[in-house]
Amino acid sequence: MKVLIVGSGGREHAIAWKVAQSPRVEKIYCAPGNAGIEEYAQCVDIGAMEFEKLAAFAKEEQIDLTVIGMDDPLVGGVVDVFEREGLRVFGPRKNAAILEGSKAFSKDLMKKYGIPTAAYENFTDPKEALAYLETAKFPIVLKADGLALGKGVLICQNLSEAKAGVREIMEDKKFGSAGNTMVIEEFMTGREVSVLSFVDGKTIKTMTSAQDHKRAMDGDQGLNTGGMGTFSPSPFYTPEVDAFCREHIYQPTVDAMAKEGRPFKGVIFFGLMLTADGPRVLEYNARFGDPEAQVVLPRMKNDIVDVFEACINGTLDQIDLQFEDNAAVCVVLASEGYPVSYEKGFPIRGLENFKDKDGYYVFHAGTKKKDGQIVTNGGRVLGVVAKGEDLKKARANAYEAIKLVEFDNKYYRHDIGKAIDEA
Ligand code: AMP
Ligand code: GLY
Repeated sequence: MKVLIVGSGGREHAIAWKVAQSPRVEKIYCAPGNAGIEEYAQCVDIGAMEFEKLAAFAKEEQIDLTVIGMDDPLVGGVVDVFEREGLRVFGPRKNAAILEGSKAFSKDLMKKYGIPTAAYENFTDPKEALAYLETAKFPIVLKADGLALGKGVLICQNLSEAKAGVREIMEDKKFGSAGNTMVIEEFMTGREVSVLSFVDGKTIKTMTSAQDHKRAMDGDQGLNTGGMGTFSPSPFYTPEVDAFCREHIYQPTVDAMAKEGRPFKGVIFFGLMLTADGPRVLEYNARFGDPEAQVVLPRMKNDIVDVFEACINGTLDQIDLQFEDNAAVCVVLASEGYPVSYEKGFPIRGLENFKDKDGYYVFHAGTKKKDGQIVTNGGRVLGVVAKGEDLKKARANAYEAIKLVEFDNKYYRHDIGKAIDEA
């Protein structure tokens, strides 16, 4: 089989690595890819939003399966373009990717079908949003409706912060048209868990759980980032929590989408908050998490191509999804200054140390080749992943492994997986 992967981050590197394990696959392409993905795939210089070009390439190269890694193309309808051309593609159509693409849609869906989530109101008029805040309880959460690179969420401690937030999102359009509509929701407290799942339109199979670390600095300080590290599984995701989510969240979401005439095929990523009143949905994403995929996929036992195909064919009920009985930790190596401003172009040394090192992986997020050398090319540069028989061993292994790679201005959090000690 020939497989095309669309995307260019650490998530797509992890997907490419996993696809490369499949004996069914003879050739992998990645558009646009990065310097690490090149080890498994031929990188093609087509952007993830160039749908027609991507589909033309897939036709020309007789690609058997295309996997979309990123949210923007999914929400923009890349799957519809591929299907129109008779191409096989893994990911939700535009009318289902709205589950991630519009927070107002997803909140209304949860309300209509009784899926537990924070109380909220949607607003299209900033005056009404401002009036609502006058009688609200604080802290409160403001969310731009659309995609905003994971940055469209503001947690406001008091009325003046919240008013400033409404102006930023709805009037100054800090997140562009993503802020035409805004959700204002109740602030929840608890532990966060990410649960990714495969969905074929009617059946859902969840993967092992994970937890992300979104803030830039130790102790969850600093700005929100795309994710500074992950661990899997989450020790807080107990069998009781899992049972509750299966009954009240996972299947109900899939059934709700089908009832709405928006059958979902692909990956649903449930961002959950484990509150004192039980699990609640924080958000849905319509794709693998980044860097959740980097700790979940190395623990997956199945041939991922079989699972992708079962989702497309509607035969996921026949797949026995299995994960290793161990743990994995990912520490992101970033450029000093991320997520605000940082330098790029520094040579990366020591990547060869990961070659054939069982249970260790280095997934590239922002790298490129320059004069035959791999150099830093982004805020998040690498995700170093290590497995271990339990979370503590995996964490120790990951923090040992990051010493194997060096580049100028290397920055990382020292406390990825610290929560494990409280479990
Ligand atoms: P989201 O993009 O919706 O996942 O939001 C980003 C982050 O903001 C989440 O991972 C949470 O840490 C936080 N967050 C979002 N919604 C809420 C909420 N209702 N209460 C507390 N924290 C929230
Ligand atoms: N790690 C969070 C995300 O992928 O959205």
